[in-house]
Amino acid sequence: MNKTILITGASSGFGEAGAKRFAEPGVTQILVARSIDKLTELEKRIKSKCKVIIAQVDVTDSESVKGFFEEYQKQIEKVDVLINSAGLALGLALANETDIDDWENMVDTNVKGLMRMTRNVLPYMVKRNSGHIINIGSIAGSWPYPGGNVYGATKSFVQQFSRGLRADLLGKNIHVTYIEPGMSKTNFSVVRFKGDSKRANEVYEKTRPILPEDIAEILYWIASLPSHININSMEVMPICQAWGALPVDRNMD
Ligand SMILES: NC(=O)c1ccc[n+]([C@@H]2O[C@H](COP(=O)([O-])OP(=O)(O)OC[C@H]3O[C@@H](n4cnc5c(N)ncnc54)[C@H](OP(=O)(O)O)[C@@H]3O)[C@@H](O)[C@H]2O)c1
Repeated sequence: MNKTILITGASSGFGEAGAKRFAEPGVTQILVARSIDKLTELEKRIKSKCKVIIAQVDVTDSESVKGFFEEYQKQIEKVDVLINSAGLALGLALANETDIDDWENMVDTNVKGLMRMTRNVLPYMVKRNSGHIINIGSIAGSWPYPGGNVYGATKSFVQQFSRGLRADLLGKNIHVTYIEPGMSKTNFSVVRFKGDSKRANEVYEKTRPILPEDIAEILYWIASLPSHININSMEVMPICQAWGALPVDRNMD
């Protein structure tokens, strides 16, 4: 693979595992997240295998994103694959009880952050008539659950935005893929429960969740496919997860 790959959320989970998977000769990786220490560690691990640029970027902060694109414009012009993995869920409270700041943070990260990154990279892809945008959504974008309210809605946005991009880009050699993973063991639940690792671990108790490396393998495969086909969307669950019957309120008498 002789490509330039920009990964958001590269300091942890799917983004970090993706960076390790794509680390091979000929590849240039641009890895962004807020945790520069974690990015530095990652860079140390993979820099013997490929070219690596790391940058501290907060996708919720338009100035931070602008500064990044100004500083690295030359490299951004060459991005073949943009993997939008930066994202988070905050809390699991019902809509009437939730912290509004959590909702706003999820919208700022999962919706506006992904929009910003995409909008900045896309014109260069169009100019070169080549590229691939891979957006990480969630099964929560298709299948609602109690407490998933705004998190799920942000991922529905990512799903529909990905389809919209495909529609806009018809006639161009630019691929767009939406991946919706199910239960996966990353730092996701620790973030969701604000550092409560006991509660986070309970999510995965006696299960075999998707691992970051599993999604990394899928990312690599999708980015390696012949250019005449496009994986529009892919829903991935661990075998220990499936849909359930819809609940019914039986207190109506
Ligand atoms: N794990 C799951 O069960 C699961 C299932 C379906 C979908 N997903 C989705 O998969 C994606 C990756 O999550 P993950 O499971 O890999 O979780 P993770 O281990 O917590 O990784 C999330 C990544 O997003 C980055 N990020 C968060 N806010 C950011 C910001 N404002 N600016 C820049 N980077 C930011 C984090 O980096 P910093 O904190 O260093 O900024 C981190 O690198 C997310 O979009 C998530 O919604 C996860």
